[in-house]
Amino acid sequence: MAVRHFLSLLDLSAAEFRALIKRAIELREERRHGLSHDILRHQVLGMIFEKSSTRTRVAFEGAMLQCGGSAIFLSPRDTQLGRGEPIQDTARVLSRMVDIITIRTYEHSKLELFAAHSRVPVINALTDREHPCQLLADMQTYFEQRGDIRGKSVAWLGDGNNMCHSYIHAAQLLDFDLRIACPAGYVPDTEIVRAAGARVSVNDDPFAAARGADLLVTDVWASMGQEEEEQARRHAFAPYQVTAAVMAEAKADALFMHCLPAHRGEEVSDEVLEGPQSVVWDEAENRLHSQKALLELLLRA
Ligand code: CP
Ligand code: NVA
Repeated sequence: MAVRHFLSLLDLSAAEFRALIKRAIELREERRHGLSHDILRHQVLGMIFEKSSTRTRVAFEGAMLQCGGSAIFLSPRDTQLGRGEPIQDTARVLSRMVDIITIRTYEHSKLELFAAHSRVPVINALTDREHPCQLLADMQTYFEQRGDIRGKSVAWLGDGNNMCHSYIHAAQLLDFDLRIACPAGYVPDTEIVRAAGARVSVNDDPFAAARGADLLVTDVWASMGQEEEEQARRHAFAPYQVTAAVMAEAKADALFMHCLPAHRGEEVSDEVLEGPQSVVWDEAENRLHSQKALLELLLRA
């Protein structure tokens, strides 16, 4: 039987995505009521992280431990990967030893190469192209706060980056409208936008994108690996900061999300991040619950 990977949000069907959100909400409630869930008993997760992480790492490790399994964190500094062992060799060896593997890396093709040589499920914990795990938590948070997102309007302001690509995939699967506002030169991948059809539009006006929206989302202007571009990006993105004036264009009950870490005073003002419409702390917590639901789905496949 083919191994089930999660390299992209599009590896889920729309029905599976909805079921996963429902399950994550249930798992959150169980934890809130102090109920333990042994759903990953005796399972071992291998975690290859070539970039920094707080939320994703702790969500995966916490999920495994709270559900009766364990996790092994592998940084390139301490493994042979960092000394040039080929990715396909590492994949073949690790996947004979652990039950599931999560990878955070730069090139999406590296993740795909690893998955092609793995006997066990591989999860995308972020690449330069996509961050699908974050969308599980974001959509869980929206459903918890406002119900189904089908037919709603979402505004993405800022960089057409990995998070933006995963939002496009979410719009495609869950059937919401996504208005993306980016400066020229920083737009999302045209093929990803095209595949999503009429529900996704891209322009350069943050106020027009925010108008009447149910949810506003942004992310850092310089992603991991783009540190040298920081200054040029700060200049290009300055008009795209999510401020109270931008929020005022959206519906009165619109939510604000950010995958974090946030740079206050750059992509978002302190007032918005800490304001009543911001759900970023629930969004971060939901990384834990939605990661459990994903691990359960892939290990049961
Ligand atoms: N949002 C997110 O993926 O955060 P980390 O980089 O801390 O994992
Ligand atoms: N776009 C950001 C997301 C961090 C969680 C990055 O890739 O650095």
